[in-house]
Amino acid sequence: EIKHFFPLQSTLALIKPHATREQREKILKIIKEAGFELTQVKQILLTPDQAEKIYSKITGKDFYKDLLEMLSEGPSMVMVLTKWNAVAKWRLLIGPTDPEEAKVLSPDSIRAQFGISKLRNIVHGASTVYEAKEVINRLFEDFSSENPEEN
Ligand code: TYD
Repeated sequence: EIKHFFPLQSTLALIKPHATREQREKILKIIKEAGFELTQVKQILLTPDQAEKIYSKITGKDFYKDLLEMLSEGPSMVMVLTKWNAVAKWRLLIGPTDPEEAKVLSPDSIRAQFGISKLRNIVHGASTVYEAKEVINRLFEDFSSENPEEN
């Protein structure tokens, strides 16, 4: 079976503050149906420091200020998702950054179904295994201290 060629991975996923409670529940259902294990989950109001860690690769972009403001509107649901090839699988499931593009290229994706705009595209996913590990260790201190070999 193809999955034996891929390593078991954890990725960092986030449901943005603008998601309604109903949308959060629908997204959690999609996550479970796609075979991800919900290894960690918590709802937190992200601090600017935490937001910067999550979006470290775009701190210089002109929309970065809007992104910080959007994330401060309410609690985000941050999650560690575990599955074989989890980082790439989650990126595929969420779809392209722009929901309008997602509707054309990947109509079943989470951003196509629930995204409003590029900024309010409902979910985030780490782009690489390295980025996932860095952000998970920062946001889930318990996770890294329970798993010292992960550090
Ligand atoms: P990016 O890392 O390029 O995309 P992705 O979320 O798919 O990894 O951008 C991060 C976030 O920044 C994106 O989810 C929403 C916001 N953003 C904008 O508001 N405007 C833009 O033009 C882009 C590219 C991103």
